[in-house]
Amino acid sequence: MIRTIIRKYRTMRKMIREIGFLRTLRITVDKIALTLLQKVYGFHPVHVITPLSARPYRHIVADLANGLKPRCVVEVGCGLGIILSLIRAPNRFGYDVDEGAIRAARLLRRGVSFTHGDITTVSQRPIDVLILVNWIHEYSPEQLDMWLSPMLSYTSYLLMDAIDPDGPEGYRYRHDFKFLETRVRRVETRPVPNETRSIILYEVTL
Ligand SMILES: C[S@@+](CC[C@H](N)C(=O)[O-])C[C@H]1O[C@@H](n2cnc3c(N)ncnc32)[C@H](O)[C@@H]1O
Repeated sequence: MIRTIIRKYRTMRKMIREIGFLRTLRITVDKIALTLLQKVYGFHPVHVITPLSARPYRHIVADLANGLKPRCVVEVGCGLGIILSLIRAPNRFGYDVDEGAIRAARLLRRGVSFTHGDITTVSQRPIDVLILVNWIHEYSPEQLDMWLSPMLSYTSYLLMDAIDPDGPEGYRYRHDFKFLETRVRRVETRPVPNETRSIILYEVTL
């Protein structure tokens, strides 16, 4: 118990040094709120430690999507729906295999439709922007190919993230989008500040 308090105190001191008092306070308050929500909804603990205040890469994803002025945006692996909440589109749909996350997202986000399911359950057509961010590194390119290929004929843009292969985490993941090469055009790559990750926007050219 005492060790945990000391460890938390040290982490907080380090955070204040690195990102300032106010941002540290904001992140701490957000994490406390998410801890309470997690107790009610039982979603995966990863969502507690990654509020928007701590992981602003979502603003980059939303900015790229908003630039396309989409009508229908689908995010698979949407978690608590933070990215979808930042996107301006008349039709926004989130899918996730974590049922607790979906139930919490329904509570938190108005105007977004959430479904418990994986990418094979997506029913919207056509899709202007399909977002797959911060989970696809757990899957092989072959698996991603199997999931994405049937969707390309009715999807206009893909937004995905890739962990820098030369970064410290790079060796662990197999981000390889070569399987898409002949069917998409890379529109933009935006590196995420302070992370070894980039957000990539592809236009489907099928
Ligand atoms: C780290 S969270 C990221 C959430 C959101 N994309 C964001 O960046 O804010 C990863 C989410 O992907 C979901 N996930 C993992 N594998 C999935 C799959 N095969 N289909 C749908 N969701 C999946 C997890 O349940 C989790 O909620």
